[in-house]
Amino acid sequence: MKNATLHQLKVFEAVARHSSFTRAAEELFLTQPTVSMQVKQLSKSVGLPLFEQVGKRLYLTGAGKELYTTCQDVFDRLSQFEISVADLKGLKQGVLRLAVVTTAKYVVPRLLGPFCQRYPGIDVSLTVNNHEWVLDSLAENRNDLYILSQPPEDIDVQIHPFLENPLVVLAQHNHPLTQEKNIPLKRIAEEPFIMREPGSGTRKSVQKLFEEHGLQPKVKLDLGSNEAIKQAIAGGLGISVLSLHTLALEGTNSQLSILDVEGFPIERYWYVVHLSGKQLSVIARTFFDYLLNEGKIVAEETAFQGVFSKGKRAED
Ligand code: PGA
Repeated sequence: MKNATLHQLKVFEAVARHSSFTRAAEELFLTQPTVSMQVKQLSKSVGLPLFEQVGKRLYLTGAGKELYTTCQDVFDRLSQFEISVADLKGLKQGVLRLAVVTTAKYVVPRLLGPFCQRYPGIDVSLTVNNHEWVLDSLAENRNDLYILSQPPEDIDVQIHPFLENPLVVLAQHNHPLTQEKNIPLKRIAEEPFIMREPGSGTRKSVQKLFEEHGLQPKVKLDLGSNEAIKQAIAGGLGISVLSLHTLALEGTNSQLSILDVEGFPIERYWYVVHLSGKQLSVIARTFFDYLLNEGKIVAEETAFQGVFSKGKRAED
């Protein structure tokens, strides 16, 4: 292995994690031939193949599996080393690794702005994906901190709420239901419904609420993006339930209205989460404290001033 480089190990780790050369290349901002070449050279140093291709799927060989575990150990130790060095220097300098659920993209970048201005030595790696993906990443300890709305029950984690994340029912602004008050959930179940994709936390909460009432939404369309859902509502394809935060940039001419439905808003919180045994770096600890102490104030001052003070109607 003495010819193997750290870079090759990083490339190999990404390919193994994604089971894909293409996705590893995308993540690392490399071309696919470069990724293939790095893995080929690493495989040569090991003296055994690391992957095998069966049909369209890529599998780790026995040697590949051993090397993947070794890589995770090596990178863990290196990041511990980085933490120790930064701590020794007493510097707030280095990388903050955050993984957040899709909907949190309306909140977290706004919170990061003032934080990064205060600590210019801190670089941020922010990964945005749906609830299920973020839980996998948490279970595999890939990031420092995680932001989500439904903390996992089967992973040993520390969770801390820092901001409300209510779910509201949205309809096209001229939908007849916008005129009604206290609409029964049963009535909502009769409307064409646009649902977030499987794996989404929003979807889970919506399904739970309908199930609790012995109802089922009439799902016309599954969409993997809050913005696409907002466009679909505005286009008259149906109604949906989304986080109030998705309205953060809707101005006074919004084509969306919040319906007054029984049981809504569904009250939820944004939580900052980390694995219980994890030793947080100075940087991660600094961001964690910032979220708990100032997150709500900064969010209300920046992104949500309009949304939270507006009350019921997105266009009011
Ligand atoms: P989602 O999660 O973006 O995966 O739907 C958001 C949430 O749980 O509030």
